[in-house]
Amino acid sequence: MAIERTLAICKPDAVERGHIGEIIRAIESNQLKIRAMRMVHLTRPMADGFYAVHRDRAFFRELIDFMTRGPSVIMVLEGENAIARWRELMGATDPAKAAEGTLRKRFGASITENAVHGSDGPETARFEIAWFFPGYEVGY
Ligand code: CMP
Repeated sequence: MAIERTLAICKPDAVERGHIGEIIRAIESNQLKIRAMRMVHLTRPMADGFYAVHRDRAFFRELIDFMTRGPSVIMVLEGENAIARWRELMGATDPAKAAEGTLRKRFGASITENAVHGSDGPETARFEIAWFFPGYEVGY
């Protein structure tokens, strides 16, 4: 199985509520390595560009307001099958539909304020990692 990288975000709601440590514990105790990490208070242009694929969706404005209201912790995770494994740990986008024990079930409040983000495929992961991390921080 391939070693992959994926982008993970502890979103502003999770940072506000003091869940950074528990989220990192879930990552590390599930054999995913944190390859890079930054705390960033996203500006609107940064959030708009990152979520550009959702620009025409009805929830876009609410999503950008949420993602820019406080700092996020942004990480690159690395490991075997990391993209799918991080998505499994996160659970479904809507915390109400997420499986018991997943991070969104434990810490998410709504479909917008859902605590964590993860890339949805290899191409997205490449785009999202490059959006936040210069090559020298992730070993190119
Ligand atoms: P995320 O995985 O970061 O990707 C897009 C985000 O938009 C999603 O998590 C949610 O925070 C937010 N969002 C709000 N409403 C919806 C919706 N109806 N469908 C998908 N994502 C939504």
